[in-house]
Amino acid sequence: MNSYKIIDHEYDVVVLGAGGSGLRAAVGLSEAGLKTACISKVFPTRSHTSAAQGGISAALGNMGEDDWRWHMYDTVKGADWLGDQDSIEYLCKEAPKAVIELEKYGVPFSRTDDGKIYQRPFGGMTKNYGNGIVQRTCAAADRTGHAILHTLYGQALKHKTEFFIEYFALDLLMKDGACKGLIAWNLNDGTIHRFRSHTVIIATGGYGKVYYSATSAHTCTGDGNAMVLRAGLPLQDMEFVQFHPTGIYGHGTLITEGARGEGGYLTNSKGERFMERYAPKAKDLASRDVVSRSMSIEINEGRGVGKEQDHVHLNLSHLDKDIIESRLPGITDAARLFANVDVTKEPIPVVPTVHYNMGGIPTNYKAEVLTVNGSEKTVPGLMAIGEAACVSVHGANRLGSNSLIDLVVFGRAAAKRAAELIKPGMPHEEISETETQKCLDRFDKIRNANGNVGTAELRLSMQKTMQSKCAVFRSEKTLKEGVDEIRKTYDGLDNLSVKDKSLIFNTDLVETLEFDNLIRQAVVTVNSAYNRKESRGAHAREDYPSRDDEKFMQHTLAWCDGKNTKISYREVHKSTLTNEVQYFPPQERVY
Ligand code: FUM
Repeated sequence: MNSYKIIDHEYDVVVLGAGGSGLRAAVGLSEAGLKTACISKVFPTRSHTSAAQGGISAALGNMGEDDWRWHMYDTVKGADWLGDQDSIEYLCKEAPKAVIELEKYGVPFSRTDDGKIYQRPFGGMTKNYGNGIVQRTCAAADRTGHAILHTLYGQALKHKTEFFIEYFALDLLMKDGACKGLIAWNLNDGTIHRFRSHTVIIATGGYGKVYYSATSAHTCTGDGNAMVLRAGLPLQDMEFVQFHPTGIYGHGTLITEGARGEGGYLTNSKGERFMERYAPKAKDLASRDVVSRSMSIEINEGRGVGKEQDHVHLNLSHLDKDIIESRLPGITDAARLFANVDVTKEPIPVVPTVHYNMGGIPTNYKAEVLTVNGSEKTVPGLMAIGEAACVSVHGANRLGSNSLIDLVVFGRAAAKRAAELIKPGMPHEEISETETQKCLDRFDKIRNANGNVGTAELRLSMQKTMQSKCAVFRSEKTLKEGVDEIRKTYDGLDNLSVKDKSLIFNTDLVETLEFDNLIRQAVVTVNSAYNRKESRGAHAREDYPSRDDEKFMQHTLAWCDGKNTKISYREVHKSTLTNEVQYFPPQERVY
């Protein structure tokens, strides 16, 4: 029996994660008078939201006519009919209010000549139900996420949210199917903390680091998702991994879709604007799954650029210098720094790069976590928001700039719902010592692992497998190999070695706990992909090239207790929330 001293805390609500969604929820909860803790493994303004570049979607209509119903249609279609239409209606209808709120909090948006929030075109965003491009993506140059994150952190401090910074969350504390709090390790002084709360809101972001090449930060390890799996709850739609068309070749750094929104275009080794062939109407502004697949086909058919012919070019040099300077300063720097390219003179070498997880913790539009036990039901005391959640507004493929709006709309919704359910200062239930001990036993076992395989070796093996076997194009063969290889890597945990046994800023232990989180998500991702025998959105099966609405217009649910994975399905929500819009029935996606 290990003996860690435990420091106890009580809060009305604990928010886990301090990115855009976590901070937006924390602001709303604190404003509502709920005693709120926000726990983060990194300093809040270093959260990955700061890397979001191009913008946040909302049908404000500042640059021409727009309508939230058009936004909803685009989102349903972009999602390839796997999104829940009640959640999508909520997102698109609430989006303008949520952006104006950000403006009032102080987000320094770029402006039009008459002082309105500037909006740019983005992939898949159209007017009048697919008839022409609309400018819907509100931007703060190409540093929109950074601007939002800093503003929300300031607001959270103003409203007296209590921060626990550089605390690494270990596990949820569950009792009779309800969440009662969580346990975290303070990296700074090595102490263990037990948080009791009426609700835990998971806002831990995506898990891009299961792949070798991703636009994600090293911290994107989906810690909350793994905590949910360990609590015996399912993750949803994990096979849907978005490849952003324009990661810098060889480095992975994001070049915003806003670059194409401002007029940039892609070319192959023959100098052809190949998107004209694949998406005659939307061209370079087709949705991301379409553009990434088109680029992969160009490369696979020998029309890639460079010595290895394994990437394509993004051209910006024809754009007005003023536009580049005022609207794309960040990517101008990134291209110079990471590709040694002056965008005013040369094209940027780009390749589809893992960028976003459509899958995650299943929730309803109020951010309450769902599980399925015969029928769909909510998990008391547990909510999830942002990229960690699968609400599911993005379905099988997310439209660019729908992520930042998802963060703030559902961060706000979670705070609203928690304020309906919780009265400030309500008494807490006791948490059983057995639950606490279970969590500490896992921590202690990993910390004292004395095998002969290092974490870095296992992580690399996982990342290489995911990159090659669960890529843009997939097949029975590659996925089966992926399932077997990831299982082997998982089994490597039995022979793990953690050299540093200390408790203070032990990065060896942090990375090992992160790996333990990542590998479980890799297992469910590749198994979910193997079981979905159709092509839809970001999941492109060479052996099943068509969408199969009869069998697969359903969300995948995957449980994993480490050794065993169980797959089941749940119905997509086809009914809308109000009668202001009708259900958008499936159709062919033509761009
Ligand atoms: O391309 C981008 O600026 C990314 C935006 C997004 O993922 O929403």
